[in-house]
Amino acid sequence: MRKKALLSAIAALFVISLSSTAQELSFETAKFHFGDNPEWKNADFDDSSWQDMQTVMRWDDQGFPGYLAEYGWYRIHFNISELLKTSDYKSALKIYCGRIDDADEVYINGRKIGKTGGMPDSETGFATAWKEDRWYVADLKEGFVNLNGDNVLAIRVWNEDGDGGMYHGPVTMQIPSKCDAMEYSLKEAVENGQSCIKVSITNPIKEKQKGCFKLMVHNPETGEIFDRLETTLTIGWKQKKVFTFPLPERGYCRVDMNYTDVNSGTSRSYSITPKYILTPDEPLAPRFNGAMLFGVRPDSPVIYRIPVSGKRPMTITSADLPDGLTIDSENCCIGGKLSRSGEYRFHLHAQNAEGAADTELTIRVGDQIALTPPMGWNSWNCWGLSVSQEKVISSAQAIIDKGLADYGYNYINVDDAWEAPERNADGTIAVNGKFPSMKGLGDRLHSHGLRFGIYSSPGDRTCGGYLGSLDHELQDAQSYNEWGVDYLKYDWCGYVRKHATEVDRGTVASYVRPYMLMGEYLRNQPRDIFYSLCQYGMADVWKWGYAVDANSWRTTGDITDTWESLEDIGFKEQRELYPYGQPNHWNDPDMMIVGKVGWSDNLRDSRLTADEQYTHISLWALLAANMLIGCDVAQMDDFTRQLLCNHEVNAINQDILGRQARPVVVDGRIEIWARELADGTMAFGIFNRGEKDATVDISRYADFYPGDNVTLRNLWIQEDVPAGTTSFFVPSHGVKLLKTK
Ligand code: GLA
Repeated sequence: MRKKALLSAIAALFVISLSSTAQELSFETAKFHFGDNPEWKNADFDDSSWQDMQTVMRWDDQGFPGYLAEYGWYRIHFNISELLKTSDYKSALKIYCGRIDDADEVYINGRKIGKTGGMPDSETGFATAWKEDRWYVADLKEGFVNLNGDNVLAIRVWNEDGDGGMYHGPVTMQIPSKCDAMEYSLKEAVENGQSCIKVSITNPIKEKQKGCFKLMVHNPETGEIFDRLETTLTIGWKQKKVFTFPLPERGYCRVDMNYTDVNSGTSRSYSITPKYILTPDEPLAPRFNGAMLFGVRPDSPVIYRIPVSGKRPMTITSADLPDGLTIDSENCCIGGKLSRSGEYRFHLHAQNAEGAADTELTIRVGDQIALTPPMGWNSWNCWGLSVSQEKVISSAQAIIDKGLADYGYNYINVDDAWEAPERNADGTIAVNGKFPSMKGLGDRLHSHGLRFGIYSSPGDRTCGGYLGSLDHELQDAQSYNEWGVDYLKYDWCGYVRKHATEVDRGTVASYVRPYMLMGEYLRNQPRDIFYSLCQYGMADVWKWGYAVDANSWRTTGDITDTWESLEDIGFKEQRELYPYGQPNHWNDPDMMIVGKVGWSDNLRDSRLTADEQYTHISLWALLAANMLIGCDVAQMDDFTRQLLCNHEVNAINQDILGRQARPVVVDGRIEIWARELADGTMAFGIFNRGEKDATVDISRYADFYPGDNVTLRNLWIQEDVPAGTTSFFVPSHGVKLLKTK
């Protein structure tokens, strides 16, 4: 598999994790003023009467709520004379400004050094960039930064909506040394039939660099060393040195590097973990991979794609198929309708040239349509507002072609940006030119047993500024039914304006109302429409989501492909939510951020490291989270495919007891999250949120330890853990996902 992974993902670029020892200045507070005045960028402006504002927390969170459509300025006074002494390069000042909700412009001593997002008064107009990290660089050779005295960093901020201001800081400043400037990259490749990694080091500085470069390719878990190198390099401006190493066939491997500048002695260490596949190759004979439990309302269409992997062609038959149902063996799906409530159990037999498999499927006809968390795809994290019907079909086709549908991924959800600018004359919702036919799209998906999802808002506009459903809720629910929609994501966003005019605004009732309304209309349609609430957890939605018949509710703001975002959303914000997730009503920590994402036409590899991606999927499995793929499936490499298609891992997510995991051990940065499973066993993840690898002895946690006589299963590699093992290696930001047997 590793060779295949490499061939299909030739030259995938990896993010380098840098352990830098560079000195820095750090600012957790700044002088601050709401409003806007061009004078405030200047060094000589007197801000002594301004209030203090933290740079690490949004306005709302530090007692300044409601500053919507508002400017504000932060001013930080700084002196770099001491910092200069720590650098052998002294050419640039690198500034981190955390994240800013929504857009900003940055000045030093009145000189603009950069901007992120778009200010409403700029030529291109407003554009939010609230989740982007802000890095700015000031050229120290240009003379506007005072090297020996006071300077002022002034940050002009615009908040369109949301909580406003700078967060995720503190603001930090560094003056890079020469060795900080060196650029590293790692590519996977195949040379002479051998999988290998190519590590390159480039000098971007306009002078020759001489340094000692050390490198080790190893498995930190087993201590095995695959390769070592130690060499002295002399690299000219823009020159690149490339080193090639064979890659072990399978399993964990890490590349540790160290570079020391010979003149200054300054040294930096770097570490990269290439994408490593743990999921064993799939057998060619048929294998059923899903929960084999499906909920549908009486008389609603059954649209069920049979999750079965194995070589095609394959025939699927049932000797005891209930009346009213049909099997389309070629497209691997079951259709039809069942009128009477109750439990229908029947057998499925799959046969191909390599073998056969049998299973029992239960269709439960009743009120509940999401007996296990939804699995599928959503367009947002990859295409953002640039989504089109063509792009949706391309990912849907790839879900089938790459065999992800064989693991239960079956919802294909169009997020924002399918709507026309205006409704039709009769008030019905219209689509824009990127979506030639919604009904056609629905029919096409259904013919493959896939289900069709769509997006709207209870407001007049969506988050992306497209038409919402306000005052047209019934008409929209009816249109969805006509198009064959099976899933609605209903996103608060534009409702904020209506909410602001309501007399009971801020009460739970005011948050429930718009969702109650649409919930009722959806339920009255003659088909099952999964109802996905998206209002970021306001008014503790997990406490009342079930009452509006929601099948899931987003518990947090939007996720992005960084460790910080994954940590906040996956760990910190889910700790208390385990009592609220249950069959038919799931907590939704947002869509997955693996594979090629980008929220636009510019896709990139997820910025999560391989270890972080294992953490992500393990955690989503334990949390009984919606498993919605957020990347372009057509461009999915084998690493991501294997990450998403491990049937033992997915079985945890799809476990029919529907118990969400909770943290049972918190020991510094080590956390164990566990969930009970339908068969009486327990799944748990040992997570290492720290910056260093750890070896965790679970027998130390007496309240949690399952006992010496319990056999454990290592789910990612699908092997039993050798008897007597209680200690587990868990890489920094990584996980061991285990299950008792
Ligand atoms: C909000 C939601 C996202 C996405 C966008 C679309 O930000 O939280 O998941 O649907 O809107 O505009």
